[in-house]
Amino acid sequence: MDLRDRAGTRVSMRDRPIGVFDSGIGGLTVVGALQKILPQEEIIYFGDTAHVPYGTKSREIIRKFSLHNARFLMKFNIKLLIVACNSSSAVALPELKRRFSVPVLGVIEPIVEKTVQICKGRIGVIATPATIESGIYQRTIRKFSRRENKNVEIFTQECPLFVPLAEEGWLENKISEQIAQRYLGFLKNKIDVLILGCTHYPLLRKVIKKAVGKRVVLIDSASETAKRAREILKERNLLAAYPSPRRGEVNKKGKIRFYVSDSPQRFKKLGKNFLQKGIGRVECIKLE
Ligand code: DGL
Repeated sequence: MDLRDRAGTRVSMRDRPIGVFDSGIGGLTVVGALQKILPQEEIIYFGDTAHVPYGTKSREIIRKFSLHNARFLMKFNIKLLIVACNSSSAVALPELKRRFSVPVLGVIEPIVEKTVQICKGRIGVIATPATIESGIYQRTIRKFSRRENKNVEIFTQECPLFVPLAEEGWLENKISEQIAQRYLGFLKNKIDVLILGCTHYPLLRKVIKKAVGKRVVLIDSASETAKRAREILKERNLLAAYPSPRRGEVNKKGKIRFYVSDSPQRFKKLGKNFLQKGIGRVECIKLE
């Protein structure tokens, strides 16, 4: 089925954008990974900067904000919704899947599937308090390890201070090293794989690695989620027309539109560390 865009031009299903949301800037790591493997896709990104952080809030509030974010993105006739925020993926995914007819992809299953494949049996998971308390990583790891017939031991730890450290750009200094040591010292040489179950943690890779030991493999969600997104679009024949659109169709190749609920300037300033390149125009939406 073809739709018309705001200017009334016909847009095929394949050339509709992918919607991505996060509580703020962290989901830009997923956008970066998507752009690497799906450069022809148009992306609409929404960062709920008025309400960040989600990771220390209640399930009810995270669900409410997530639903609001998804509704906003649906206005763009997206063909796939990616929930880039781990805390939202942990508590709101089933409801989002129930409510919307487009495929909805969270960041947890893709990263767990990969982790269980490569682990030797001892998995660490670090994430926000909301994600750890939800128990979703523990349940999903057990599900995949049963499937792979593997015995695994799981160690979890909440690391809420990593979010402000990453936003502040304190990625390798003495203070971040000490905090990482305090949170993760008990995992040293105890695990073989560590899941970075929060959008912000990949930026602190160096201090995390130092705290858990250099033989531990660190896994983050961005690239696995992007690969899963490509599979979903391929299965449904929804990959954007490439290299050029068919006649009469619109293809805004590789374009990203950024929306936030507060402080576009701060989003721009901090976001470039997460996206690893400059961010163009950022629009601020009015909260309903
Ligand atoms: N995006 C959040 C997550 O991945 C981290 C920041 C927050 O707490 O909102 O869980």
